[in-house]
Amino acid sequence: MKDPARDPRRTHARPRRQVRTVGAGTFARRMRPVARTTVTAALPYANGPLHIGHIAGAYLPADIYVRCLRARGKEVLFVCGSDEHGAAITLRALKEGVTPRAIVDKYHALMGKAFQEFGIHFDIYHRTSSDLHRATSQEFFLQLDRNGAFTEQEEQQYFDEEARQFLADRYIKGTCPNCGNPDAYGDQCEKCGTALSPKDLKEPRSTLSGSKPVLRSTKHWYLPMDRSQAWMEQWINTGMLDGVQQHDAGEWKPQVLGQCNSWLKDGLRPRAMTRDLDWGVPVPLPGADGKVLYVWLDAPIGYISATKQWAQDHASAGSASDWEKWWKSDDTRLLHFIGKDNIVFHCIIFPMLLKLHGGYILPQNVPANEFLNLEGQKLSTSRNWAVWLHEYMERWPGRQDELRYCLGSILPEFKDSEFKWKDFQEKNNSELVSIIGNFVQRVFVLCHKYYDGRVPEPVGGDESDVVLWAGLSAMPDRVAAEVDRFRFRDALANAIDVARMGNKYLSDNEPWKLERTDPARVRTILYNCLRIVGGLSVVLEPFLPFTAQRMRTMLGLGELKWEDALRADLIRPGSPLAKPEHLFKPITDAEIQPEIDRLHATRTTAPSTGTLTAPPPASKPDIGFDDFAKLNLRTGTIVAAEKIPKADKLLKLTIDIGEPMPRTVVSGIAQHYSPEQVVGQAVVLVANLAPRKMRGVESQGMVLMAEDATGRLVFVRPENGVDPGSEVR
Ligand code: 2FM
Ligand code: ZN
Repeated sequence: MKDPARDPRRTHARPRRQVRTVGAGTFARRMRPVARTTVTAALPYANGPLHIGHIAGAYLPADIYVRCLRARGKEVLFVCGSDEHGAAITLRALKEGVTPRAIVDKYHALMGKAFQEFGIHFDIYHRTSSDLHRATSQEFFLQLDRNGAFTEQEEQQYFDEEARQFLADRYIKGTCPNCGNPDAYGDQCEKCGTALSPKDLKEPRSTLSGSKPVLRSTKHWYLPMDRSQAWMEQWINTGMLDGVQQHDAGEWKPQVLGQCNSWLKDGLRPRAMTRDLDWGVPVPLPGADGKVLYVWLDAPIGYISATKQWAQDHASAGSASDWEKWWKSDDTRLLHFIGKDNIVFHCIIFPMLLKLHGGYILPQNVPANEFLNLEGQKLSTSRNWAVWLHEYMERWPGRQDELRYCLGSILPEFKDSEFKWKDFQEKNNSELVSIIGNFVQRVFVLCHKYYDGRVPEPVGGDESDVVLWAGLSAMPDRVAAEVDRFRFRDALANAIDVARMGNKYLSDNEPWKLERTDPARVRTILYNCLRIVGGLSVVLEPFLPFTAQRMRTMLGLGELKWEDALRADLIRPGSPLAKPEHLFKPITDAEIQPEIDRLHATRTTAPSTGTLTAPPPASKPDIGFDDFAKLNLRTGTIVAAEKIPKADKLLKLTIDIGEPMPRTVVSGIAQHYSPEQVVGQAVVLVANLAPRKMRGVESQGMVLMAEDATGRLVFVRPENGVDPGSEVR
C-alpha cells in the first residue's frame, strides 16, 4: 500500500488556530519573542526560465508574506538568488553546447529581471557562483569539518566509462524504489519527492551516455545523518531543541511534517556532501582535487551569502557584520518558502548542517507548497507545457496583478491545484473587474460628478455606517492573521471582501437616488467609500501591489502602513482626486483562446524525463569519417513558405541553396513557426537526403534544427556572410 505520508495528493485543508504558547495547561511553554524575520525563497536553478509553477510554489507566497510584514512595520529581510551549481546546470550546458558559465549568466539575468518586473521584491537577488558565496560555503564546510561533522569514506560509486565521469545526482537515472518511476534521478525522484542515493535506483543508467554504469572507488566527505536522528525527530515534531522551544510543530503544514516523518521513519543515513565534478565550489581541503561541494550543501548556504552581500551593500561604516543578526540571534525568526520537492533539504539536511556548524538559528517554519498543474497536466519544462513568466509579461504588459491575483487564489497550499486560462479570464472578469474595479470606478465617477473631483466633507452618520465600520474594522487583522498562518488564499479572499462590503454599502445606500433630496447624506456615503478605497489599497497591497499603488495615486496618497487602513483621517475633505480610471479590463474569449492554442501548439513531444530532452550525442554509436563525409550539408535561405492543408505540423519551404532551381522541403516546424516568420531565415540543409513524399509534396532535403532551453525548435544557421550553397563540413 502507498505510504500516505509520501502521497502528494493527500489533502490537509484542516485549519489550525495560531497559538502563542505550546503544550497544554500549566506546562504550556512560551515561544521566544520575535524581533525580526529572515525570509528565504528557494534559489531557482539558473538553467531555464521561470514558469507559473515556480511562482505559485514559493515566490508569490513569500512576497505576499514579506509585503504584509513590512506594511505592519516589522523588520524583515527577504533573500533569494540563483542556484548556479550542480548537475542541473552542467547538463543544460552540455545539451546547449556551451559552458556552465554561459548558462548561469543567461538565466540569472533572465530570472532576476522577471522577478523584478512581476513585483517579487527581494532585498537581494544573489548568485551562488559569486566569490563571496564560494568563500562563505568553504568556510562553512571547514567549520563543519573541524567540528567532526563529516566522516571521510573511500567508496564504490557508479562511473560512466564512456563519458569518463562519476555519476551522482542528475547524472544517473533509474527506477524509483518508492513509486516505480522509471526516470528517477540519483538524488531525488521528481514524481514522489523521495530523496535518493544513486545506489537506491533500480536499473541505473548514465544520463550522459545512456550506458550501464560500473562501480569505481572514490573518496568523499559524508554527513552521518544517522547520528542526528534523535534530536532531529524531536526538533521537527515538538519544536524542542537543547531544552528550548524553537517552534510550534502544530503550525507546520501537515504535508511538510508528513514528508519529514516519512524520511525519519526510514532512518536517516549518511549522505555524501562532496562530488567529483569540475563545476561547483571546490572542497577546501588537501587531497580533494577535482572535488566540489554537493550542490545541496552549497545552495542553502547561498541564503547566508546573499545576506552577507546585502549587508555589505547596505553597510554604514563598520556594520557589514550586521548580517549575523539575521542568522544568529535568538530573537530572529527564520522562514524558508519552498516547493514540496525541496522539503527534506530545508527541514532536515540544512537544519542539521546549521546545528552541527553551531551558532545559527534553525528555521521556525518551512511553509512548503504543493505543485501547480496547468490545463489538466503537470507543468513540464521539457515538454514545454508551461506558462513562462517572462513571456506572460510580454504578451500581457502591465497585467502582473491579474496573474498575481489568479495564482494567489489557487495557491497549492495543501494539495496540488490547477491553472486554467479560462479560470484566469473568469477571475479577472467576475472578481477583479466586477468587484474591485467596479467599486472604485463608481466611487470616483460620482465624486467627479457631484464634487468636481474633490473629496466631499462628511456629515454625521447613520445606522448603516455603524454596521459598515463594525464589519470593516475586523478586516485588516483578519487578512494579517491568515497571512501569518500562511493561508494566503484565505487572506486574499478576506481582502476582496473589503471591496465586496464597499459595493454592498454603495448599492444599499444608492447615493445617486439621494443626491437631489439629501445631498448631505450623499457626501457622507461617498466620503466613506473613499475611505474604503484607501483601506482596500492597504489590505490588497501584498497581493496586488501595482493596483494598490494606482489606487493610492488616484486618492492622492503616498505610502501607507497597515494601521492606516482604518485611520479615520486617511482621506482629507477638499483634497483633489485623480480622474476615474478602470483598474482592470475585461478579458475576451478572443484574447484568451490564443493562449490555450499556443500552449497546445508549442507543446513538444519530448519525454518528460528531466533535463535532457533529446538523447545525448554520446548515446549514438560512433561513425567513421567516411560515413560523415557522405552527408551533403549546404547553407541556404528560405525564400517562400506555406502551410500544408490538413497537416498541422508541416510547412512547405522553398529554399535557395545556390542551385538553378530552389529546393522544396517539407519540415515539421508548423507548431513552432508561422510561414511569415521563416521567410528570409538562413538554414543548413541536408541536401542529399533521398527525396520523400509527404502529404503529396516531394521533400528534397531536411533543415537542421536544435531544441532551445524551453524545448522549442530553433534553426541551426550559418553566420552572416556565408553565401547560399556553401558546403558545411
Ligand atoms: O529545486 C531547486 O530549484 C533548487 N535549486 C532549490 C534550491 S533552494 C536552496 F537550497 F538554495
Ligand atoms: Zn518515486
